Amino acid sequence: MKTTTPLSYLISLLLISLLTSHATASYDITKLGAKPDGKTDSTPSFLKAWTGACNSGKSALIYVPPGKYVVNNVLFNGGQCKNNDITFSIDGTLVAPSDYNVIGKKDEWISFQYVTGVKIYGGSLDANGAMLWACKAKKGNCPQGATSLSFTNSKNIVINGLRSINSQMFHIVINGCENVNIQGVQITAPGNSPNTDGIHVQLSTGVTIMNTGIKTGDDCISIGPGTKNLWIEKVACGPGHGISIGSLAKGLDEPGVENVTVKAAVFTGTQNGLRIKAWGRPSNGFVKQVLFQHVVMRNVENPIVIDQNYCPRNENCPNQVSGIKISQITYQDVKGTSATQIAIKFDCSTMNPCKGIRLEEVELTYKNKPAQSLCTNADGSAHGSVKPTSCL
Ligand SMILES: *[C@@H]1O[C@H](CO)[C@@H](O)[C@H](O)[C@H]1NC(C)=O
Repeated sequence: MKTTTPLSYLISLLLISLLTSHATASYDITKLGAKPDGKTDSTPSFLKAWTGACNSGKSALIYVPPGKYVVNNVLFNGGQCKNNDITFSIDGTLVAPSDYNVIGKKDEWISFQYVTGVKIYGGSLDANGAMLWACKAKKGNCPQGATSLSFTNSKNIVINGLRSINSQMFHIVINGCENVNIQGVQITAPGNSPNTDGIHVQLSTGVTIMNTGIKTGDDCISIGPGTKNLWIEKVACGPGHGISIGSLAKGLDEPGVENVTVKAAVFTGTQNGLRIKAWGRPSNGFVKQVLFQHVVMRNVENPIVIDQNYCPRNENCPNQVSGIKISQITYQDVKGTSATQIAIKFDCSTMNPCKGIRLEEVELTYKNKPAQSLCTNADGSAHGSVKPTSCL
């Protein structure tokens, strides 16, 4: 016969209390008033779910069932959040209101600030950017437009399996963050849509972007000042303007960019491939320790480019001299086709020549004609087979 001893009774009580305290608090936004009808403003339901999740002492799940939810500008602020484990599981699509002025008057559509441990799984964001781009093309009186999704001053973030479509401005911005994992994301906007950068990273440490496809009208990934330990792997880019470190040297006191890896990237029909770009202006900034590895170029206009003399309209660039110091930049196993004759261009600063550029197993061709490499104030070395012949 089985008897319950006081000890085993205590243990089972303990187990039950442990299990219940680890259970998840769930918030289905349709139970909080959201409607998947593409018409009703569901913003208040998202905020209710967020407040509930933040105040919950246990892991929280915010669930968005299939359907289209109209959402206005929404800020998920974690400043007072007690919870550092909040998961958004999204089967539906968040759509911006049809009047582009609604979200476009602010800088951000869906934004997170001061959050820790937020994870987004699945879902689509459709910012409906086309009407705003058309307004801009006509030089009408239009707002600048909003970034679709942004994380600011946050840490331990996961964005997995998200789709972003037709952002008004940038699709995703990571600003002032630590430990961000972006995986299996699909970003889409037309090749001629203005300023629709795919993912912009700045002032952030430990950001990873993997298995991601980006088709857009501006940089697929842009890397701003203060980016450290960035890992980009298996990214397909095009149409778009490539993966770009810069523009840097906008300001005099600018933190540097350090330890960036771009591995197994494919560029198809893009304006640039691997680009480092700095204004020809004074700055304390720098770029160092960058590895571009196993990269395929398909008909790319400027496959490899460092431009330290960026100065559109020739305004505010005294003597066209860039203060940015560029060093330890390695291109290893970069192969494919250039759409122009200059496949490699290192246009560095007279005052701060580029140092330690390394080309290794780089083979770029131009319509079966010889391609060219061009160096100005660039110092470095070539190893293994390098075509076009290195100018370093
Ligand atoms: C460079 O960044 C990677 C992550 O991208 C990290 O694993 C590595 O430790 C960093 N290296 C240094 C020297 O900080």
